Amino acid sequence: MILIDELRAEHDVIEEVAGAFLTYAASPAQARDGADGAAFLRFFRLYANHFHHAREEDTLFVALRDRAGLPVDRGPVATMIADHARMAGLLDAVATSLEAGGDAGPGLHESATAYVHALWHHIDAENSVLFPECAPRLRRNGVSDLPSRAMTPDEHEAMIGGRGLVARYPPAAQPDVMRGDGCIMCPAFGVTCRGLELEWWNEWEWDEFEDRMSGG
Ligand SMILES: [Fe+2]
Ligand SMILES: [Fe+2]
Repeated sequence: MILIDELRAEHDVIEEVAGAFLTYAASPAQARDGADGAAFLRFFRLYANHFHHAREEDTLFVALRDRAGLPVDRGPVATMIADHARMAGLLDAVATSLEAGGDAGPGLHESATAYVHALWHHIDAENSVLFPECAPRLRRNGVSDLPSRAMTPDEHEAMIGGRGLVARYPPAAQPDVMRGDGCIMCPAFGVTCRGLELEWWNEWEWDEFEDRMSGG
């Protein structure tokens, strides 16, 4: 499904620029170029939020609800929507730290770390849990493709700007960040979401699973 392939490719870009942003945020305040900080912010606001998250919400999630009959007010989709809102708040905190400029050394490092780690967890959850389930469930309901919109010139420019920053602030390895696949890695698991199987599987999927387990 083209939309899902595109969303995955966008994750790769967002993930890399997020890594570059941590490199930027870790550099000494007096060495930080304010224009680059603004370009990072533009990238996250326009490309990650306005383009990427919005298409997930207004195209993919809407199709899961209306055409695949999946709940969006609880379970994995509700978790992803809540993440988008929470991350927008974390990005506002980043913007405040950036505006405070040179005096906000530890402030920026802290707010950038909180934002980037949330973003990475979110990308892992979508890539490993949500997205693999979307295409087969939509296809079963006769949906083979989901037309979506192109980037606006502003979003495109923000994306190019972000990519340019990756070369200047190479992302460092982050061995202390726990990342991985599956519900078990998701902070919402067992808190606001019971995991994909309990939230999404229907009766015949459970029957099939039990048959397989019992060798039947
Ligand atoms: Fe998302
Ligand atoms: Fe995403």
